[in-house]
Amino acid sequence: MGAGAIHCAEDARRLAKRRLPWMVFDYIDGSAGRETGAARNRAALDRVTLQPRILKDVSQRSLATEVFGAPAGRPFGIAPMGMCNLAAPGADLMLARLAARHKIPHGVSTVASTPMEKIIETAEGHAWFQLYFSGDGAGTFKLVDRAKAAGYQTLVLTVDVPEVGRRPRELRHGFKMPFRIGPRQFIDFALHPQWSLSTLFHGKPQMANFDMDGYEFDRTETRANVTWDTLARLRAAWPGKLVVKGVLDLEDAQKLVTAGVDAIQVSSHGARQLESAPAPIEMLANIRAKLGSEFPIFYDSGIRSGEDVLKAMMQGADFTFIGRVFQYAIAAGGEAGLESLWEVLSEELSNAMAQVGVTSVARRNI
Ligand SMILES: Cc1cc2nc3c(=O)[nH]c(=O)nc-3n(C[C@H](O)[C@H](O)[C@H](O)COP(=O)(O)O)c2cc1C
Repeated sequence: MGAGAIHCAEDARRLAKRRLPWMVFDYIDGSAGRETGAARNRAALDRVTLQPRILKDVSQRSLATEVFGAPAGRPFGIAPMGMCNLAAPGADLMLARLAARHKIPHGVSTVASTPMEKIIETAEGHAWFQLYFSGDGAGTFKLVDRAKAAGYQTLVLTVDVPEVGRRPRELRHGFKMPFRIGPRQFIDFALHPQWSLSTLFHGKPQMANFDMDGYEFDRTETRANVTWDTLARLRAAWPGKLVVKGVLDLEDAQKLVTAGVDAIQVSSHGARQLESAPAPIEMLANIRAKLGSEFPIFYDSGIRSGEDVLKAMMQGADFTFIGRVFQYAIAAGGEAGLESLWEVLSEELSNAMAQVGVTSVARRNI
């Protein structure tokens, strides 16, 4: 890939689709059910308009902001994603270096393919640990202690996966972690030799936070027994910042504020959970109206451009997170591809700011 091949997120997606085995592409790209939830949010994002303003001096524009009082180079960070090294060997650490370079939070999944200690070290501290409760929660609290020992200061509790959503594209390929290479996968991998040779050469990606005694995790295990009491226990156990990710309901949002969390993340898990959920970009505006202007609200789901980032901020987000498109870029062109996409997102945001007459994305300025 030439570095100039990515001019928008869709370019990265198209290249990724060509490079990746179908099983891996569909794992990353897929959504719940018939994927109408993903389409609904896309349509809702497309319906949000940005008002052009004229004759303002917008020659000096800053993409910098703050998140939890710390400077961030952009108003967007990396959403936690499991098994990123499926996109390409070393993907987790490419993302960690990106986070370090631009001082943005790197969401490190419970089921990351690189140990959490290695990621936060590479990210130079710009990493937040994302937590899934599993089983009776005993192993989960061990992970919390481990994250604390590794130097994590922010924990993101993902609450929108009481059961893993049904994603037919994953199910059809028999996608599992750790994955098995049956006849079907063999053909798939043989048809994508570039990916297969490099990935299998580096060793099959693993859920790297679970290769130690006492840490076990089943990605598909029920988390249906996680309740407000579990949250209260976590709040008591965690002295750092606590973000709850996967909020789409006004009453839940209000209860989280009362429960003492530090921020909520409005998200539909990238439309991977409940197909019929409301468009998160619409719920964002409602939740902001409900909670008032001060409480920190983050947003992810469906962001495909810098303009989408600006739209989310205009709907009330203090900060945003982006998922899939980073993985498309890595699959398309490795670390150079990721850097290209980063530039694209930054340019798109800066360009859009100029047109709407905004020179800063720090929350109180837009
Ligand atoms: C391949 C993949 C794996 C993901 N794994 C996790 C995970 O382990 N934990 C989590 O909280 N969210 C996970 N997510 C959801 C993302 O954090 C985020 O909510 C979503 O991807 C944002 O939507 P976008 O991909 O449209 O930007 C995953 C998403 C994808 C695409």
